[in-house]
Amino acid sequence: MLVAEAICASYLSKVSKAQVTVLGIETSCDETAAAVVRLSEDGPTILSDIILGQAAQHAPYRGVVPEIAARAHVEGLDGAIAAAMGDAGLAFADLDGVAATAGPGLIGGVMVGLTTAKALALAASKPLIAVNHLEGHALSPRLAGPVPFPYLLLLVSGGHCQFIAVLGLGNYRRLGSTIDDALGEAFDKTAKLLDLGFPGGPAVEALALEGQARFALPRPLMGRDGCDFSFAGLKTALVREVERLGALSRQDKADLCASFQGAVLDIVADRTKRAMDMFDPLWGATGRLVVAGGVAANQPIRAKLEEIAAARGYDFAAPPLRYCTDNAAMIALAGAERLLAGLSSRPEDALCAPARARWPLDEAAAGLRPTHKAGRKGVKA
Ligand code: KG4
Ligand code: ZN
Repeated sequence: MLVAEAICASYLSKVSKAQVTVLGIETSCDETAAAVVRLSEDGPTILSDIILGQAAQHAPYRGVVPEIAARAHVEGLDGAIAAAMGDAGLAFADLDGVAATAGPGLIGGVMVGLTTAKALALAASKPLIAVNHLEGHALSPRLAGPVPFPYLLLLVSGGHCQFIAVLGLGNYRRLGSTIDDALGEAFDKTAKLLDLGFPGGPAVEALALEGQARFALPRPLMGRDGCDFSFAGLKTALVREVERLGALSRQDKADLCASFQGAVLDIVADRTKRAMDMFDPLWGATGRLVVAGGVAANQPIRAKLEEIAAARGYDFAAPPLRYCTDNAAMIALAGAERLLAGLSSRPEDALCAPARARWPLDEAAAGLRPTHKAGRKGVKA
């Protein structure tokens, strides 16, 4: 047997304990994060949670620059892990496993985190758990309190925009996703167009409060079957309005933001009702709607989702924003849930497992929907 194969095989180990403690590492976009989570049958305890943001490094470019992100992960990750272990008061020997995001995401960053996790797992003789970043998001509401399976998750961030039926650990059905831009990306592009800075979501939300929705903007895919999203047409319509107006006053910008926010609310409401129509007959007996991702910070969107959930008799959960946006506690939790359930011996968990820019959470859905399978935005969004 080759040395590499021997190493791969020897760390595909199982843990059979009532409680596990896992170090999680997240580097798939622009947060360098490390956290330690202890999971028992009573639920998770977050022993430490370090997030080093990179917003200042990317702000001059008004968007995330992959090379800058990867370098920042290289520079920051060792310190983040040391801080997470220090805050938890643990040595590597006290861990039951090391979990890292192995995709989907910006490949340079994913490689930094996954390679570091492999080195730690090898040096400390601990199992490696290669976590799908989307599984981290799917399980993230469970960091904040008991959220029993099944539930309907709306994941809306700068990189992701999809409805996922979270049926159990490792059991996810993607019900719909964007066919072009993610919702956070649409907010960021609107902010860029109006010169409001980066990240754009909070700026657009704030300025919309000063405006009137006087521009008629399209609501792509609204009323259509299924629960996919599309935001490209909305962006193009905004560009046309800006070109037509010429010089923009502050009131023009506020009115454009209000019009955009109004269109987004209508689209999100319509798509969520459709997703519930799909979720209900199969899993709706315990109806539960959860929103995660950076866009979950948007108050009008939260309020609209809460209203729709109440009208359907669904419970509604919007976890604290710290667990909605990218963080390592959700990666540690996913790793810990897998370890506790004895689900950490997939080929992906081997020390030779690759970093993946694209990694659909629901392979079956991705296979059936080739438009979502390949391309720059494909599976990630
Ligand atoms: O989850 P996140 O921190 O990172 C990833 O993209 O994975 O999400 C960031 C995204 C950005 O696109 C940002 O503009 C958007 O979330 N966002 C918001 C708000 N706060 C953040 N979008 C709308 N309204 C907000 N208040
Ligand atoms: Zn994310």
